[in-house]
Amino acid sequence: MSTPAAPATAPVKVAVVYYSATGTISTLAKEIADAAEKAGAQVRLRRAPELAPRSAVESNPAWAQNERATADIPEVAVDDFEWADAVFLGTPTRFGNVSSQLKQVIDQLSPLWAAGKLADKVYSGFTSSATQHGGQESTLLALYNSIHHFGGLIASPGYTDPSKFVDGNPYGTSHVDAQGNNPVDETSRTAARVQAERVVRITRGVKAGLAV
Ligand SMILES: Cc1cc2nc3c(=O)[nH]c(=O)nc-3n(C[C@H](O)[C@H](O)[C@H](O)COP(=O)(O)O)c2cc1C
Repeated sequence: MSTPAAPATAPVKVAVVYYSATGTISTLAKEIADAAEKAGAQVRLRRAPELAPRSAVESNPAWAQNERATADIPEVAVDDFEWADAVFLGTPTRFGNVSSQLKQVIDQLSPLWAAGKLADKVYSGFTSSATQHGGQESTLLALYNSIHHFGGLIASPGYTDPSKFVDGNPYGTSHVDAQGNNPVDETSRTAARVQAERVVRITRGVKAGLAV
């Protein structure tokens, strides 16, 4: 027997799942979570567990500081994906690719994938890099590969808001941190908010449509 669909008026549930070493993605994740909440969603902000050796974390003051500053944010669980109607995935660029920490989270989703429980959800990505052409778009596209396997619906921002012609990344929010010398600025925060509002709006429509 199939599970009855949730009423179309039920709030949209958004999971913001991210990995961040030195805090750039943590800042964007919080901005997205706040904006999604303001747009009426129930939000779970969740971080990927650290996989790097302690010596690596402790050798970098910004890394150790971000770890302390985000210690109160729960680590992501598989259940967070099952719970959510929409999932944001955030990762720093790693040689133009997804960080191993976030990839490890994705790789643990096989049981949900096999049960068809990752399909029909809305997904959207965000990233950051040290340099302007350092692989932001390739990272987001790599992230989105997995979404096709899930049967997920990718809600990228495109150029759907005038601000997108300022930040210039239709694939997802992205920030150039210049090795910590360029903290997340108003342009990137605006991109995060616009993407969050769009994802909540699209998800509301998808959820209402699937409930019919
Ligand atoms: C192993 C490794 C690989 C990286 N690869 C790239 C890269 O290909 N291009 C780039 O511009 N920055 C690269 N970076 C820099 C980070 O992606 C960038 O500083 C990011 O904004 C950090 O996000 P965070 O502060 O949330 O950890 C790399 C950093 C590390 C540690």
